[in-house]
Formats: sequence, C-alpha cells, structure tokens
Amino acid sequence: MNKPIYVTQPSLPPLEEFMPYLHKIWENKILTNGGPFHQQLEKELCDYLGVKYISLFANATIALVTALQALRITGEVITTPYSFVATAHSLLWNGIKPVFVDIDPKTLNLDPSKIEAAITSQTKAIMPVHCYGQPCDVEAIQKIADMYNLKVIYDAAHAFGVKCHCGSVLNHGDLSVLSFHATKVFNTFEGGAIISPDAKTKYHIDHLKNFGFVDEVTVAAPGINGKMSELNAAFGLLQLKHIDDAILRRNEIDRTYREALKDVKGITCLNGNSSIEKNYSYFTILVEDEYPLSRDALYEKLKDHAIFARRYFYPLISDFPMYRGLPSSSPSNLNVATNAAQRVMCLPIYPDLNREAQNRVIDILQKG
Ligand SMILES: Cc1ncc(COP(=O)(O)O)c(C=O)c1O
Repeated sequence: MNKPIYVTQPSLPPLEEFMPYLHKIWENKILTNGGPFHQQLEKELCDYLGVKYISLFANATIALVTALQALRITGEVITTPYSFVATAHSLLWNGIKPVFVDIDPKTLNLDPSKIEAAITSQTKAIMPVHCYGQPCDVEAIQKIADMYNLKVIYDAAHAFGVKCHCGSVLNHGDLSVLSFHATKVFNTFEGGAIISPDAKTKYHIDHLKNFGFVDEVTVAAPGINGKMSELNAAFGLLQLKHIDDAILRRNEIDRTYREALKDVKGITCLNGNSSIEKNYSYFTILVEDEYPLSRDALYEKLKDHAIFARRYFYPLISDFPMYRGLPSSSPSNLNVATNAAQRVMCLPIYPDLNREAQNRVIDILQKG
C-alpha cells in the first residue's frame, strides 16, 4: 500500500532548534499575556510582512470576531460564499447578517462589479477573502467602500507574505486578518493576527483581545480572551527563520504541477499570475467538462491511491444550514461560486512533498 499523501502537512523545524526557546520560557516563567516572545514576534512579523501594526491572536476566527467588534460593525456585511466557514461565522457571532455576493470566475474572489447591487441602508462593511492567497481587486473594492462609507475587513487567512504591485496586500482595507493555523504557510500550531493601519487601532484591538483591560483596574470594553501564548509565539519566531526556504520549495512544487498539467485537457490550473509575490499556499485546479472524469470521480480515484486532495471550497458557505435561508444564498445569485464549488480541487502542496510523491499525483491526473 502506498504511503498516504495529504493535501498539506505542517513544516516543523528540527526539534533541537525549539529547545532553547522552551528553556527560556521555563526560566522566566512567563507563559502568556504579551510576554517577551509575543512582543518579539509582533516586531519581527511587522518587518517580515512589511506592515506597521500587528496584534497576535490565538486563532484567526477570534481575530475576525474581534476585528468586527473593533470597528463596531452591525447590520449587514457583504461577503463571499466561497471561503472557509469561519469567514461568515465571525459575522453571526457578532449578530451581523451576512449578504453573499458572487465571485470572479478567474480569481474566485469577491466580484467587485456585483457588490453595489447588494448594498442596502443596513450595509456597514465588506468582508472579502484573498482566496488561496490571490489578492482581491483591492482598488475596486476600496472605491465602492469610499463611495458608500463602508469599512473593509479582509479575511487574509491565506495571504501570509503576499505582495502586489504596491507592497504587502495586508495593508489594504481597514483591517486584515491572518491565520497561523497548522495547515497554513506560516503556522504557530494555532494562531492568527490582525493588521492595523495605526497605533490607536492596534491598542484598541490589544485591549479587546485581553478582556477589555486597559490597566489593572480599568476595563474599557467587553473584550474576549484572544491572546496568543508564549509557546505559540516562540514557535512562530523559529518558523520565521525557515519561512523563505519553505516558500521557495512550494514555488518549485507549483512550477512542476503547472508544467505537468499544462497539456491535460479539462484541467485548469488557477492563479498562474506572475506579477505578484506569492506564497504558494494552495495548488488549485478546476476539473472542466472536457476532462474524462468528473471532479468527484477524480477525487475518489485519488483517494483510492491514498492521495487525499481537498475540495476547497465545497460546499459553499451559503449551503450550510445556518446560511441556507438567507435571500442572498440562493444559487441563482451565486452562479459563478456554485459552478466553481462543483469543479474545484486543491492538490497536495507542502515543503516536504518530494518529487516521487508529487509524480504519483501527477500520474493519476494525466491518465484521467
Ligand atoms: C479563509 C479562512 N478564514 C478563516 C480561517 C480560520 O482560521 P483559524 O483556523 O486560524 O481560526 C481559515 C482557516 O482555517 C480560512 O481558510
């Protein structure tokens, strides 16, 4: 039986490299509450990512919930149905009504040309996702936001280190939220962060993630416990030392897939765009009608060969029971997303995926 190949596998540095960090934690006995590793990681991430202010979190979902709180968003928020379910869940956790808008067929990101028609007097913000790390049309989205006085919160869970023509994609919108979950390009086991444009917003967010405490006796807001621990922050510092090599290796795997699949009829590789600095977090294909197998048949065939690709994003968020009843969830409103969800598949990509394993995946896709 072949060794299983999963869609992703976390990259872990040699364990010995982590030991000095553990010794330090044991020595100073600071486990959380913005300790030295937490502070150092915030600083190093600002430098690495090219952003001004960052607040570390326990995970991206709490960070999304907190970002909405920080901007005091209520009413309705326009978002994409084509994402991980946490994007819309963060709205429900704030009592906000999600309004789903269809996606662009090329990038599978929120389609700016469809946003205006969904704006009502209750709309307070737009929450787009840089899906698979592919930047949204940030200029078009900002133009609409400015015209209608809306906030923009980017779910940038996939966009660690991504740069477009104007620098880090994380500097767009009012806030951006990163995920450092184990499956992400940069992971801290669990973790996340909010990127703020100014110090005042960062400090407000820092209070919100610590129960609202401003000092020992002052609670300024009904905050939550969203803090990242010292253990996670220390691991992040170590991961940062290896991140460039990890992204380089992902780039090689991406290139190999593109070359091997370019002549396979019915397989479309997404996001070949070379004008952006990518992180190669996902390798996404669409299985079109000309391919000899349906997407699901191919998915099952890969599984039979112990290759566990994933159908990100299927089902659409709008198809889950807590969203299905919303008027904007109707498939007729979401033609492009509905179609993409039926065809999409993410192939295995991670730094330790060796050539032999990748060839096993390619072989099956080429044979059909
Ligand atoms: C687009 C998107 N948003 C939010 C999340 C939630 O991140 P976390 O697991 O860090 O809470 C994820 C993935 O995990 C995601 O893919």
